[in-house]
Amino acid sequence: MKKLTALLVLAGCTHVAVAAEVVGNVQNAKAKIEMCIGCHGIPGYKATFPEVYPVPMIGGQSAKYIESALRAYQKGERKHPSMKGIAASLSEQDIADVAAFYAQQTRTADPK
Ligand code: HEC
Repeated sequence: MKKLTALLVLAGCTHVAVAAEVVGNVQNAKAKIEMCIGCHGIPGYKATFPEVYPVPMIGGQSAKYIESALRAYQKGERKHPSMKGIAASLSEQDIADVAAFYAQQTRTADPK
């Protein structure tokens, strides 16, 4: 009987874990966006890179847009090789976190 109860409790937990929605966490994103900074300029960072190579600005973009773009790279619907590699290395939680982070940025890095 004890075993059965334990199993039921376990099953209950798994269910909750699966049902829980992935919510982006801006704090957790900070360590994850380090590899994005080199290419995607962030406010306070001098973005000289876009002059050499067209890297889109993602700061201030809506979280939904960033998430769907990253998923499109994961699925191969978007073809850019370096972004495909990067997106492939991100978990669902990573995507939610970086999307939340970039969405709360303001577009102050726009070149005049
Ligand atoms: C090696 C350089 C490089 C790195 C590192 C990089 N990106 Fe990109 N990213 C690009 C380029 C170039 C594009 C445009 C690709 C294209 O035309 O599809 C792009 C496109 C994107 C787009 C789509 C933007 C749009 O307007 O459609 C998103 C979102 C994005 N990157 C997020 C990220 C995130 C998040 C990270 C870090 C986890 C990251 N990138 C790291 C170079 C990079």
